Amino acid sequence: MRHYFITGTSSGIGKAYAEYILENEADSVVTGISRREGMSHLRFNHIALDLGNRESLLNFQFKVNQNATEVVLVNNAGYIGDIKRIGNASDLEILKLVDINISAVLVLTNKFIQQVNSSLNRIVLNIGSGAANYPIDAWTPYCSSKAAIEHFTACVANEQQVTNGSLIIKNISPGVVNTEMQAEIRKSNHTDFSRHEHFVNLHENGELKLECTFKDGLKYGKTVKYYENGKLQVEIRRVEGRHVSHFYLTVFLQSI
Ligand SMILES: NC(=O)c1ccc[n+]([C@@H]2O[C@H](COP(=O)([O-])OP(=O)(O)OC[C@H]3O[C@@H](n4cnc5c(N)ncnc54)[C@H](OP(=O)(O)O)[C@@H]3O)[C@@H](O)[C@H]2O)c1
Repeated sequence: MRHYFITGTSSGIGKAYAEYILENEADSVVTGISRREGMSHLRFNHIALDLGNRESLLNFQFKVNQNATEVVLVNNAGYIGDIKRIGNASDLEILKLVDINISAVLVLTNKFIQQVNSSLNRIVLNIGSGAANYPIDAWTPYCSSKAAIEHFTACVANEQQVTNGSLIIKNISPGVVNTEMQAEIRKSNHTDFSRHEHFVNLHENGELKLECTFKDGLKYGKTVKYYENGKLQVEIRRVEGRHVSHFYLTVFLQSI
């Protein structure tokens, strides 16, 4: 059975992913990590943790279900921060974003490799963003953090290759999805953010994309199947469902 540790399960993509797993994988258990609880299920347990609080983060330990044969860490929690250009942004907001979007991902991945037995299948999925690959006005700390995680993913994958490690680590970009983060983006000020109207229009015209794209390269599309070592299938697809945004996005892993 699989044990998932997913950060940011109280809303948006993390919540939708956790719900999808619990509905579709009868044996899997999910540990959600966020400040708010946001969901409940017999096979779901919540750890209340502020990923921006260093002491709490350092005290976190992966307690893996003893029946697990595969353990998945999904570094999904993310923060858009202050939507203001560098020079106008708050120093404290920059530090908060770096703690949540970068430090927490590196520390959790480090702990995951230390604490989860290497005889189990171990998978780390980092939820990235297209913002890693091109500048977006007034999102500089966010863009920088996503670029950092993309490179971190490549560096850890390289370490695994060099050491013949079996850990699989991937960076996945979901595309623009209708979540609380998008609502935060629309709340920004158009004088601070030249693309404010674009994001408002995406929402008003029902154009927020619902599909994921695979940032690891290879393929883009509404439904993506990707096979690795003949073993891992990652499928990312669009689903209309009961989620508050009227749609939810699913990302799931399945052994083949
Ligand atoms: N939505 C998009 O268009 C889009 C596009 C590209 C990439 N992404 C990425 O997708 C991921 C999920 O975003 P989303 O759109 O689903 O956002 P969301 O609805 O705002 O959800 C963010 C999640 O992160 C958690 N989180 C934030 N700060 C935290 C903290 N200090 N400690 C613990 N948990 C924290 C929140 O939980 P609590 O508030 O309960 O702590 C919440 O569950 C992010 O990494 C984001 O960068 C989103």
